[in-house]
Amino acid sequence: MFPTGRCGACLTEASVVAEEVVKPGEFPPQGAPEQMIVVENLHKSFGQQTVLAGVSLTVQQGETLCILGRSGTGKSVLLKTIIALLDPDAGKVTVLGRDLHALPESQRLTARKDLGYVFQGAALFDSLTVCENVGFSLYQQGQPAAEIRERVVDSLAAVGLAHAIDKLPSQLSGGMQKRAGLARAIIKRPRIVLYDEPTTGLDPLTTDTINDIILSLQRSHGITSIVVTHDVRSALTIGTRLILLECGVIAASGTPDEMRAHRDPLVRRFLGLD
Ligand SMILES: Nc1ncnc2c1ncn2[C@@H]1O[C@H](COP(=O)(O)OP(=O)(O)OP(=O)(O)O)[C@@H](O)[C@H]1O
Ligand SMILES: [Mg+2]
Repeated sequence: MFPTGRCGACLTEASVVAEEVVKPGEFPPQGAPEQMIVVENLHKSFGQQTVLAGVSLTVQQGETLCILGRSGTGKSVLLKTIIALLDPDAGKVTVLGRDLHALPESQRLTARKDLGYVFQGAALFDSLTVCENVGFSLYQQGQPAAEIRERVVDSLAAVGLAHAIDKLPSQLSGGMQKRAGLARAIIKRPRIVLYDEPTTGLDPLTTDTINDIILSLQRSHGITSIVVTHDVRSALTIGTRLILLECGVIAASGTPDEMRAHRDPLVRRFLGLD
């Protein structure tokens, strides 16, 4: 699965261990594809500013849906609404059959256990080590430190970062910080991972490493993903389906091949096809 001809301990480590950390069989695709996320006619405004003006989409088990769109179109708002960090003004989001927005805040934390979230920017706590950052949610649950460390090692190994477990975020490169954010998102072995710009600002090789990890999690372990990205090349590589968000609605959607063949000038311009 991993391309040959590229070296680097990270890639090798990631390719080997990503296979192991999320045990095959924990995310078995069973029968007809399950609807993991259903977004229905979502509206969200901030004051006078309408950001989402009726967004509907469905993500099925094992899909990697890539969301493209210019800066400020509401991609992060959409992800945050899906994970119920933001409440919609109208519309409904169902994740694994549950309406998270119908739950009081106190119950949302538990309900999010099947959801991993990679924040735009790594959003690591500066004063905590990589171990403490990645294991943060487990510390919050009061799990024993030794067990947490074991889980953190697994999670870091999956992104090729086990060697950095005791470092502080300031001692990591941008790409390493992104991978630490990813390790934090997968530590609870979620069935769904939402990535907000996981490769933005990274060089092409580090971008490929991150994309390989996302692909590995999807293909080997059936993890369903939504990836918000400005990186068209990544979207066409890892996406099973792409959508283009524009003016608060979905302006276009399709498989990578369908998008490449799209006639809409906006889509063609956005994908850099013309
Ligand atoms: N909590 C908030 N309060 C007020 N306005 C907000 C809030 N969150 C987002 N916005 C506004 O909503 C709009 C969409 O923001 P969002 O972060 O979703 O954009 P984006 O598509 O992710 O952009 P980028 O590609 O630059 O990350 C922006 O104009 C932003 O200022
Ligand atoms: Mg954003």
